[in-house]
Amino acid sequence: MPFRHAVVTGGAGFLGSHLCTALLDRGTAVTCVDDLCTSDPENVAHLTGREGFTLSSTDVCDPFDVDPAPDLVLHFASPASPADYLRLPLHTLETGSLGTRNALAVARRHGARFVLASTSEVYGDPRQHPQSETYWGNVNPVGPRSVYDEAKRFGEALTTAEAGVHGTDTGIVRLFNTYGPRMRGYDGRAVPTFIRQALAGEPLTVTGDGRQTRSLTYVDDTVAGVLAMAESDLRGPVNLGNPVEMSMEDLARLVIRLTGSSSPVRLIERPVDDPTVRCPDITLARGKLQWEPRVPAEEGLARTIAWYRDRAPVPA
Ligand SMILES: NC(=O)c1ccc[n+]([C@@H]2O[C@H](COP(=O)([O-])OP(=O)(O)OC[C@H]3O[C@@H](n4cnc5c(N)ncnc54)[C@H](O)[C@@H]3O)[C@@H](O)[C@H]2O)c1
Repeated sequence: MPFRHAVVTGGAGFLGSHLCTALLDRGTAVTCVDDLCTSDPENVAHLTGREGFTLSSTDVCDPFDVDPAPDLVLHFASPASPADYLRLPLHTLETGSLGTRNALAVARRHGARFVLASTSEVYGDPRQHPQSETYWGNVNPVGPRSVYDEAKRFGEALTTAEAGVHGTDTGIVRLFNTYGPRMRGYDGRAVPTFIRQALAGEPLTVTGDGRQTRSLTYVDDTVAGVLAMAESDLRGPVNLGNPVEMSMEDLARLVIRLTGSSSPVRLIERPVDDPTVRCPDITLARGKLQWEPRVPAEEGLARTIAWYRDRAPVPA
């Protein structure tokens, strides 16, 4: 690992906590910068007291700096689940704009590599399938999801301009749905919701007719892709996601089977602007980063279910 000191904004969140752990395991000191607006400090409790780990309770919407100088900035701060960004619309927009500007300023000041966590949501409800990085997307700029989608699109534009104007060493990853241990059971995303419901013997609530598809990547695969991007000099954007597409109903039935639950599936109303299909073209990641997902859905879900079982009943 070539990095001495990494800043991980949003480092106390689901993905951020796994990134902090992976970096420390590779010998990189980590400053986790997080305002804890959508996360549980329990996520990084296992890192507290570990050599090289610092937790800074900071809102990245305010200018910030870290000491000693970092050589890597992973900008992952942002509400990410629909339940969170619908509850925090202005904070989401400010984190994607002011927060990205402030995280870029840290990277520029110290000459650090910068990687922005963007999202497949920049493709909106896509008209191209699967989605390659050259597709510009189909996003409603004033719909309820726009606070997240447009914040990320602005973050990509800002990051690209920063590299052009100041020569900052930037990269952009577009992450497709990632799941795994430490997702909050009530964060509203499909995998934790289905597992929580299945373990409680409640109906699994599938939106719409259940035929809408998602690409699900296990967290260890996403972390490996992000670190490969950090170690490269690619600007991106680069898609990181699983090209194996799964319908929401199939996912619900798989969770029922793997948990051994007798819960039924119940169809409920579909949210506004919910994408119909989602599947990445990962030709770029395969070719330039030698990256592709390795953990099959059954294995990743089994590991995630085991984590929830250890914590049952899932706290509210
Ligand atoms: N998990 C996924 O499937 C997925 C998919 C695409 C993109 N992403 C991106 O990855 C990143 C992490 O997502 P996650 O799933 O871990 O979500 P999460 O909610 O678990 O983590 C986000 C973290 O950012 C922190 N945060 C939010 N605003 C902040 C601010 N202004 N200042 C400091 N900290 C702030 C939160 O407290 C939280 O700890 C996000 O940028 C998200 O958009 C995630």
